[in-house]
Amino acid sequence: MKIFVDTAKIEEIKEAESWGILDGVTTNPSLIKKAVNDSEEEISLEEYIKEILKTVEGPVSLEVGATSVEGMISEAEVLYDMFNGINDNVVVKVPVNTAMEDGDDNFSGIKVTKALSDQGIPINSTLVMTPNQAMMAAKAGAAYVSPFVGRIDDHIRTRMGLKRGEDYPKGTYYPEELAIRVWEQKLDRAVGERSIDDIIYKDHEVMRMFDWGNDDGIFSGIDLVWSTKQIYDQYGFDTEIIAASIRTSRQVRSCAEMGVDIATIPFPIIEKMMVHKKTSQGMRSFSDDVIPEYQKILKG
Ligand code: E4P
Repeated sequence: MKIFVDTAKIEEIKEAESWGILDGVTTNPSLIKKAVNDSEEEISLEEYIKEILKTVEGPVSLEVGATSVEGMISEAEVLYDMFNGINDNVVVKVPVNTAMEDGDDNFSGIKVTKALSDQGIPINSTLVMTPNQAMMAAKAGAAYVSPFVGRIDDHIRTRMGLKRGEDYPKGTYYPEELAIRVWEQKLDRAVGERSIDDIIYKDHEVMRMFDWGNDDGIFSGIDLVWSTKQIYDQYGFDTEIIAASIRTSRQVRSCAEMGVDIATIPFPIIEKMMVHKKTSQGMRSFSDDVIPEYQKILKG
């Protein structure tokens, strides 16, 4: 699995690059804002982005800010023309759907994906929350698609009546298997001895419970990635899946187990991926057990 770092902070990108594990970078307007705000020095954003592009050989996603078709196409062309010459690794991130309110156009993102992909500009279709959006993005020619794992887990927990901060902190693992067991028990209890017809046609309360703990049949962010992968494999789409909005190292492992192309991971989570208490404990005892005769050989 390719590992991208989900950050715009140059020091994190350089550090991850120095470990020899980095295959690319994803940024978004919020990550750029954070990098600029947290910087102790005055930043020329243009030079800063150029430095990011020179630091990694792999793709670097830069996101558009506009929402209209013309605006997004113009911004994507500006980004590509201004920066792709640096290291030939610019990918333009376009939201799969830019609608913010009911009544807004739901297809601007997909139209832009098609137009820019036809021009040869590689697109990372972002803010993907459903397998159907992922399929549409692939059909429109996106080079990459980014299903948002953590935000879907948050969304499902909200639907279950849980509040982030109060009931669970950001970055906690969402136990999908446990939630499904609770969901099944709730349904079993509600259905009881009644006939299926009685439930399906008359009991709206019970029918609503089918939606509890899932998002239109998607049971977690990892399930969204899995479903997307099933669809892509089924039809041979060559769009690469970037599992995004990763909050835990366990989610990274789940992605790797299912054979996802790429995970874009916040830097602190990449750090956690290397740590285990027993590795440190083993290191302490190996270190203590280096006898002088062996040390002599090691010194050469
Ligand atoms: C990357 O492509 C996304 O912009 C990012 O993973 C979003 O992560 P968040 O949900 O933690 O903000």
